[in-house]
Amino acid sequence: SKTFNLLMPQLISLLKELAASSQEMLPEANPFLSCLSKNAEAVHFFCNYEESRGNYLVDVDGNRMLDLYSQISSIPIGYNHPALLKLLQQPQNLSTFVNRPALGILPPENFAERLKESLLSVAPKGLSQVITMSCGSCSNENAFKTIFMWYRSKERGHNNVTKEELETCMINQPPGCPEYSMLSFMGGFHGRTMGCLAATHSKAIHKLDIPSFDWPIAPFPRLKYPLEEFGKENEQEEARCLEEVEDLIVKYRKKKKVVAGIIVEPIQSEGGDNHASDDFFRKLRNIARKHGCGFLVDEVQTGGGCTGKFWAHEHWGLDDPADVLSFSKKMMTGGFFHKEEFRANAPYRIFNTWLGDPSKNLLLAEVINVIKREDLLNNVTHAGKVLLAGLLDLQSRYPHLISRARGRGTFCSFDTPNDAIRNKLIAIARNKGVVLGGSGDRSIRFRPTLVFRDHHAHLFLNIFSDILADFK
Ligand SMILES: Cc1ncc(COP(=O)(O)O)c(C=O)c1O
Repeated sequence: SKTFNLLMPQLISLLKELAASSQEMLPEANPFLSCLSKNAEAVHFFCNYEESRGNYLVDVDGNRMLDLYSQISSIPIGYNHPALLKLLQQPQNLSTFVNRPALGILPPENFAERLKESLLSVAPKGLSQVITMSCGSCSNENAFKTIFMWYRSKERGHNNVTKEELETCMINQPPGCPEYSMLSFMGGFHGRTMGCLAATHSKAIHKLDIPSFDWPIAPFPRLKYPLEEFGKENEQEEARCLEEVEDLIVKYRKKKKVVAGIIVEPIQSEGGDNHASDDFFRKLRNIARKHGCGFLVDEVQTGGGCTGKFWAHEHWGLDDPADVLSFSKKMMTGGFFHKEEFRANAPYRIFNTWLGDPSKNLLLAEVINVIKREDLLNNVTHAGKVLLAGLLDLQSRYPHLISRARGRGTFCSFDTPNDAIRNKLIAIARNKGVVLGGSGDRSIRFRPTLVFRDHHAHLFLNIFSDILADFK
């Protein structure tokens, strides 16, 4: 595999050249070649997870790199954390790792207790119910369904379903399949399954060729930086977006495509690290309430501590921040929290075979212990300040390469002039031992683990400062 890792880029281009020059080798005619030359281009490199530790990812050639991307923001407390390794060595935990149950029908005897130790111990304000899933997309997909079912039962006012509803739902027609919609924001990312994709608007390549719903899409604020200098403009920009949200709700009601729910990320992540003020979210939450729409906060990427609070929406300071909240990534398991009134009124309505995985839940309970024991939320706040201060300093020294430095906790980012320069900076950084990720069309995002500390920030800033000084 070492050799393969080393040679893969050359191998792919060689195969492509061969494909171009030979009829028999056309990718379409050769499934292996087709897979290798297209989808596999997403592969950055092969890794040695046994040797990786903490914030350092090791590749198959033994290169040890400071990982500021952490598996697309999904490693909570670093690679091979001793506390997690210990869990696997305890004999009483083995059966949880070996036997993956169909949780919806045959949960293990202690499952409710385990949920209290893990997910329910960090439940967002007002959201006492939780259901686990396997990934971010299926969490959002089922959160949508939960909101639609809640809305319909609110409209009916009783639990009696008509014969017509039962018959029409079988042929995808109203009234059984009501023409409800989910309002989302331009630049948002909520996953790649069909429903989620209809609410995703970050990159065309994710959506191309897939049929979709006519659901309303509101603009998301495009803030100007530094925030202190553009207070008035940013306020106006946020007001414009909120006005559009209300207009769309009214317009879609008239079209008979009632907006049953609104989905939003506290920080648009895949779409380019787009922030809005806490005030924007407070007002958005009020609009949802005023129009009777379910309010779904997607914390798949922002949840789990990386903004300095366990949930990013806690920064908004609301008593009733959400009706439903989805999570995955750093939480080890997908799933969503919801209010009691959003509970499905019959079995199998929110259901799949696995409904998550108790072994991930076991790991999460220990992750939460480590976060508390090692005071990692404060660590994130502190290290994030060091990182952002360093980025602002680099921005002042290299304004032609870095702009709009921004962030909350270690969830930081900056813009580069364009996609080509961004990708080149990421490639150079990797050769110098730092793994970075991009977001949107020109941003570089920081998604380190929660054990990223001040000295890791300094290490990165020193390396990156040299890269910028030499950049041609
Ligand atoms: C905010 C947000 N929602 C949903 C998803 C989808 O999660 P998954 O890739 O696990 O399906 C992502 C993935 O990056 C995300 O960032």
